[in-house]
Amino acid sequence: MISGIEATRIDPAISPKPEARIRLVDVHLAFGPQRVLRGVNLEIFSGETLVVVGRSGEGKSVLLKVIDGILKPDKGEVWVEDQRIDTLPPRALNEFRRRIAMVFQGAALFDSMTVEENVAFPYRERRLLADKSIRERVVENLRRVHLVDPGVLRKKPAELSGGMKKRVGVARALSMEPEIILWDEPTTGLDPVTADAINDLILEVQQSTHATSVVVTHDMASVFKVGNRVAMLNQGVIVYTGTVEETRETENAMVSQFVQGRAQGPLTEGLPVG
Ligand SMILES: Nc1ncnc2c1ncn2[C@@H]1O[C@H](COP(=O)(O)OP(=O)(O)OP(=O)(O)O)[C@@H](O)[C@H]1O
Ligand SMILES: [Mg+2]
Repeated sequence: MISGIEATRIDPAISPKPEARIRLVDVHLAFGPQRVLRGVNLEIFSGETLVVVGRSGEGKSVLLKVIDGILKPDKGEVWVEDQRIDTLPPRALNEFRRRIAMVFQGAALFDSMTVEENVAFPYRERRLLADKSIRERVVENLRRVHLVDPGVLRKKPAELSGGMKKRVGVARALSMEPEIILWDEPTTGLDPVTADAINDLILEVQQSTHATSVVVTHDMASVFKVGNRVAMLNQGVIVYTGTVEETRETENAMVSQFVQGRAQGPLTEGLPVG
């Protein structure tokens, strides 16, 4: 048995614990014959930043989409506080999803919209604010991601660098004023300096919003800079959870090899791609 498994096993009979903001109980999800999640048990505590690591293709993005309600598990339960979300009807789910911001792996901006329209989108969708206030908030959210040149507002995503796109993606997430932020490989594909700036940004967002965050990353600098706890996904289950300090010194071979950047066994897909 891999050490750490016991620590993450949750008795489904126990009702959601108040301290766990997000709780996955025995979550299974397959695409046809491919069983991607095979009994994920995971708790994410209020206000923490949990980093999820695992090899390429293990199902990390799928896991975030399950938490966000985009994908429904075939079996198991997904709880956010005392709300079970995997069984919510579409309307209630849409309402619920406004509390969660996903910063997608490829930024996932709307290509036909300008930066301003992209960042304004969550406000427009909620129809709570007048145009002038929306514009002010858009400018403010872009300032928070250090995009201060007014010219950027009118640009389309195709005119931005990879790092700028990620920043715009973060600004759009901030426009949701989220309680939960899911970051899918925020630094992948960026040079080390830009990647470090994005890590700083994750910390800044964390400090200013106090959101509960889940960060999927292959970037060990990111793990140690932004994380409070680490979870490892392997072969469809969470095989390890521990604090960042515990993870540095873990005797779990799979985790320590990952942390030290050495592959264990043949990699199925080569290097991770953004
Ligand atoms: N919508 C989908 N339909 C069919 N298969 C899918 C779908 N989404 C993901 N998969 C498959 O599920 C597996 C896990 O995908 P996922 O994107 O979660 O991997 P990952 O751990 O995020 O990898 P990476 O580190 O490369 O981003 C992959 O084999 C992928 O092809
Ligand atoms: Mg992924």
